[in-house]
Amino acid sequence: MIDDVRAAADAAVERLAAVATLAEARALETELLGKRGPFAEFKTRLGALATVEEKKAAGQALNEATQAVQSAVQARAQELQRAERAVQLEAERIDLTEVLSKPGRGHAHIVTQAWQRLEDVFVGLGFQVAEGPEVETDWYNFEALNMPPDHPARSMHDTFYVDHGNPGSTVLRTHTSPVQIRVMQHIAPPIYMIMPGKVFRNETTDATHLAVFHQIEGLVIDRGITLAHLAGTIEAFTKAFFGDGFSSRLRPSYFPFTEPSAEFDIRTPKGDWLELGGCGMVHPNVLRAGGLDPEEWSGFAFGFGIDRMAKERHAVGDVREMYTNDIRFIEQF
Ligand code: DAH
Repeated sequence: MIDDVRAAADAAVERLAAVATLAEARALETELLGKRGPFAEFKTRLGALATVEEKKAAGQALNEATQAVQSAVQARAQELQRAERAVQLEAERIDLTEVLSKPGRGHAHIVTQAWQRLEDVFVGLGFQVAEGPEVETDWYNFEALNMPPDHPARSMHDTFYVDHGNPGSTVLRTHTSPVQIRVMQHIAPPIYMIMPGKVFRNETTDATHLAVFHQIEGLVIDRGITLAHLAGTIEAFTKAFFGDGFSSRLRPSYFPFTEPSAEFDIRTPKGDWLELGGCGMVHPNVLRAGGLDPEEWSGFAFGFGIDRMAKERHAVGDVREMYTNDIRFIEQF
């Protein structure tokens, strides 16, 4: 019987080497080692052996054979599993390094481009750049700019109020002018500063108005600054930003934070006038709010919209188009 057991084990190992798939290996495992397999049969035959010695020797041979077949099954199963997994991985492979043959290259938004060019031009004229918070107190946004609580000019700013502190004390800044006050409080004159940033107005949007837009503020504080310095700076900026064919003019106007105040327009080479922004000599009350003595210091300020500049430069019909993030619109520039 011992010879039969060994022969059966050799045959089993040989058959295992021949199976091609994991499923076949599992099926063969059941066939060989299951209840109706040859080794189970050998086990029942043990009882029929005559002597204890014979039983012992045959039992030992059977155990060894069964173990040999079991480890052969396991080794073959592992081998097949590895091979099958390798085939599967290859089939499901994704090339994460794949790129389009012509990679698309992005670019800055046209408002960002205008913002950056404005900074470049003013830095070229000797200005520095400062930024202030978008959430402001009523004091910085209005009161320090010579607009006390009942001032009629406040109604021109449709204000978003923030639910913080005393009711009405916190706003989304309606213009970049409050940064003038913060700069005066933190930097000793002479001051030659521009202050670009996001501003907010609670109004219905249309082709020329946005509720969230961008302004750039300018502030110059020094000794003996006059309206002539303001006009000259606006003119130098106009030529540097738009080109030599352009010129500028000031038109009398009113702002609470400047006295006198003006609107400034630019003249295109074709002779059309384009309204750009507001400006004027900084009001003594504003200098005082910034902690400066109006007897010692004087200055001018100006402010205008950045989105408008981008709109005019690229002949965009509707400012709202600039913020839909429609790639077909953005890719034009
Ligand atoms: N803050 C004004 C606005 O939002 C613009 C402005 C006008 C700014 C005159 C100035 C200025 O600095 O002097 O409409």
